[in-house]
Amino acid sequence: IDLMDLASDILQPKGDDVARISWYLRDIITRYQETFSVIEKCPKPVIAAVHGGCIGGGVDLITACDIRYCAQDAFFQVKEVDVGLAADVGTLQRLPKVIGNHSLVNELAFTARKMMADEALGSGLVSRVFPDKEVMLDAALALAAEISSKSPVAVQSTKVNLLYSRDHSVAESLNYVASWNMSMLQTQDITKSVQAMTENKELKSVTFSKL
Ligand SMILES: *[C@@H]1O[C@H](CO)[C@@H](O)[C@H](O)[C@H]1NC(C)=O
Ligand SMILES: *[C@@H]1O[C@H](CO)[C@@H](O)[C@H](O)[C@H]1NC(C)=O
Repeated sequence: IDLMDLASDILQPKGDDVARISWYLRDIITRYQETFSVIEKCPKPVIAAVHGGCIGGGVDLITACDIRYCAQDAFFQVKEVDVGLAADVGTLQRLPKVIGNHSLVNELAFTARKMMADEALGSGLVSRVFPDKEVMLDAALALAAEISSKSPVAVQSTKVNLLYSRDHSVAESLNYVASWNMSMLQTQDITKSVQAMTENKELKSVTFSKL
């Protein structure tokens, strides 16, 4: 968070009365939120690779990503209470769904304490910890390459449906994926993927059309 940049927007908001100032501020907050939500709305999987401090807006950013890796020197801090505000661009909405440990989420959000890499791994905020930044980046890029070797129809359909089911009941989500697949199951990617599997070929050797 660039506090200086934030100060002009938030501390001296434009407008002639409470309603107009509030209207203006709501507009700004919504725009800030959208800068993180677009990561989630992007149908392609997004991998966050964290080293050093991931503070305030950093947590808003990584909780909107699909997979999180970190280096041993990483720490995570929901810093907003320390600057006198409630996190308003995603952390409070997404972190509980990411780690599911509500007592821990509440503790982090109320105290702004640092959570170190091992605890982040133990709580499920990150799925792997690496000795340093270089090793982590290699692993993150290898993961991206692995995912990108698969059918884009399958991968992107999977992201859309995982996100849908996070926010809906099992019954609603099953209904959603049935409607989704009645068209997506007709993809040529299934034939290609299954053929590669039966012929013991690597998926990397298969070319899927661009999506
Ligand atoms: C919740 O987080 C705390 C602190 O990291 C940890 O000790 C505890 O095992 C976690 N509980 C669950 C159910 O994950
Ligand atoms: C529907 O598509 C998703 C994502 O491509 C896939 O994981 C799932 O197995 C499919 N469901 C059925 C019933 O084929």
